[in-house]
Amino acid sequence: MSIFSTEKRSDGVAVVTMDLPGESVNSLRASFGQELSAVFTDLADDPNVKAVVLASGKPDFIVGADIKMLEALSTASEAAELSRGAHRNMERLASFRAPIVAAIHGACLGGGLEVALACHGRVASDHKRTKLGLPECQIGLLPGAGGTQRLPRLLDIQSALDLLLTGKQVDAKKAKKLGLVDEVVPQAILVEVACERALALADGHAEKKKRALKDEAMEWALAENPLGRKVVFDQAKKALLAKTRGNYPAQERILEVVKLGLEKGMEAGLAAEADAFGELVVSPQAAALMSIFFATTELKKDRGVDAKDVEPRPVDRVGMLGAGLMGAGIAYVTADLAKTPVRLKDKDSAGVGRGLAYVRRIVDQRVARKRISKIDRDKVMNRVRGTVEHVGFADVPLVIEAVFEDLALKHRVLAEVEANGPADVIFASNTSSLPITKIAEGSRHPETVIGMHYFSPVEKMPLLEIIVTEKTADWVTATCVELGKKQGKTVIVVNDGVGFYTSRILGPLMNEAAYVLSEGVAIEDIDGALVDWGFPVGPITLLDEVGIDVAEKVGHIVHAAFGDRMTPPPGFEKLIADGRQGRKNERGFYLYGEAAKKKGKKKPVDTSVYGVLGIEPNKKLPKDEIAQRCALAFVNEAALCFGEGILRSARDGDVGAIFGLGFPPFRGGPFRYVDAVGAKEIVRRLNRFRDRLGNRFAPAPVLVDMAKSGKTFHGEARVEPGRHRGEDRGAGASASA
Ligand code: NAI
Repeated sequence: MSIFSTEKRSDGVAVVTMDLPGESVNSLRASFGQELSAVFTDLADDPNVKAVVLASGKPDFIVGADIKMLEALSTASEAAELSRGAHRNMERLASFRAPIVAAIHGACLGGGLEVALACHGRVASDHKRTKLGLPECQIGLLPGAGGTQRLPRLLDIQSALDLLLTGKQVDAKKAKKLGLVDEVVPQAILVEVACERALALADGHAEKKKRALKDEAMEWALAENPLGRKVVFDQAKKALLAKTRGNYPAQERILEVVKLGLEKGMEAGLAAEADAFGELVVSPQAAALMSIFFATTELKKDRGVDAKDVEPRPVDRVGMLGAGLMGAGIAYVTADLAKTPVRLKDKDSAGVGRGLAYVRRIVDQRVARKRISKIDRDKVMNRVRGTVEHVGFADVPLVIEAVFEDLALKHRVLAEVEANGPADVIFASNTSSLPITKIAEGSRHPETVIGMHYFSPVEKMPLLEIIVTEKTADWVTATCVELGKKQGKTVIVVNDGVGFYTSRILGPLMNEAAYVLSEGVAIEDIDGALVDWGFPVGPITLLDEVGIDVAEKVGHIVHAAFGDRMTPPPGFEKLIADGRQGRKNERGFYLYGEAAKKKGKKKPVDTSVYGVLGIEPNKKLPKDEIAQRCALAFVNEAALCFGEGILRSARDGDVGAIFGLGFPPFRGGPFRYVDAVGAKEIVRRLNRFRDRLGNRFAPAPVLVDMAKSGKTFHGEARVEPGRHRGEDRGAGASASA
């Protein structure tokens, strides 16, 4: 069966429809070029064909190249050749004797947009499904089918660079504004309008093409303003490196290749694009970023339970207890993204009012940014009902709680939910540190108690960590996973334990940063080292953001559970005594508000904090050593979680660390990182730190096993999670742990 079907209309337009047999989406595969060539050879020979429209038989135009095909490429030259083949295909379209207009509805991304760019005109549907973009850089690549050359020739340089370097997607309206499409029309008349436009272009097409080629040569000769161009590219590079710290080669190569194409012409640009594409496809960064892409795709299909015969139950309403920062955020994603009514309860009407106002602020912003209409906003607000009484909960199948972090309080609200709700009501806690098993002890039917751990701010953070106890019923897990996905989250399911997965692995990183600080290393050096390593913010900044008081509370809990390994360095309690809570009271490691303004720097350290801690910040440590100490503490703890069976898979551990905690995406997550560096080397580094700094660096048993066996977390010879359940946890566990 062919990818393309052609309808030759009596008005002289041939409508070529792409519809990949047996697939739900059109993606570009190896056979694309050949079949395209066959179709256009036939059209070229048919004198009745005056113009062509390229459309899709799927709900999307073309979603991009098949990433599995790209992942399977093993050498740079093979990948570069693939890109050169794509160039030939695109050239076939661009130089066709009659005009081709792309009729774009749905996703038109990556290679799909490159196909559209090679056409002579583009019409898009105004449907909200229609999205255009070149997201290649997000998987560590650059557009390899001419996108780096055709986009900057169609749009202004700044807009083209913005799309290429961020991989962002734009809707049809924005695409029209940028000049990416010529016309935006309702879906119902899309193909018809594209046909009209194609016919209109047909008059004098050959002439126009000749002129366009000449114009291009002229344009580059005239626009030869090397100084201006240099400034644009220098600035773009500076801004890029400030953001990526040199960790993302794809973006750097995109800049180089675009610049080269503008200086030396299309042909040289395409040649450079193919070479760069080849190099990037086999880069470790692309491998890591592609693995995250595959992991999230897999998780979209994962129901969170191994049993096949378990079905999620319908959730037609959600009860939300606590209308604070987290509760209001959860109410918003439930009402807007999951389109499910929410009953939002707080202890007093002021609390409810604050929560409703928070939801309202988010939807108002979405209206202002034209993401939703005013009618949609009203629909979302209608789905959220506030209350201070326990009324309206009698038929609610699922209640999420985000009241204060206090076990007795959680038990009290749990009892209220069970007393007022249906017999099998699900009680999901958003606690960040209390074991779900402890919360479930207050339940009459602990099989319906579960953790749904969202991250702040809920409306922005992509991860939901679902925590199950030994008693949680599978249908409860499946139901919560399903709701989480509807709320727009990437969901991982982990087993219960102190700090679950995410809060637990963050602990040793923060603790290690505190040790480095207590040795006299300056705050900005510590944060800078971890940002250079690829984290979005440094650990000391994070302490200020999370709240020093909150971190101290959680610190006690994990210390009590895991012993020596999590012992904080002495002196940190002095920060609490000094009233430092971080950003929320504008007293922490950094200065805020007026005090910060006076310093004139972007983020000045509050140097008085050194005095409080009794530290002289005059020690210099190599950046890499600071980063390795903190990052390996984190990675080692992740490995301990894996060995203890907290995680269902290394995949979940990677996704949780990246999406929940900002672990550098180009490293692919803590488990991919171990695989890339090698367990043997990781164990060697940990042992070296242990000898110098203490037992908290004792390598996780699973890493020691892997160093011996040569197994990996992800490869063919894979280690299974949970092998070290109930064993001595290594890594400095005390007798009490
Ligand atoms: P918050 O202080 O902003 O909100 C808590 C809300 O619960 C307040 O509005 C309070 O009035 C309300 N409340 C207290 N007792 C109540 C009762 N009996 N019935 C109904 N409402 C009651 O706190 P936040 O930050 O929203 O945290 C809530 C929970 O989420 C905590 O368990 C926290 O550990 C957890 N969490 C917090 C994260 C964060 O970054 N803030 C991240 C993940 C989890």
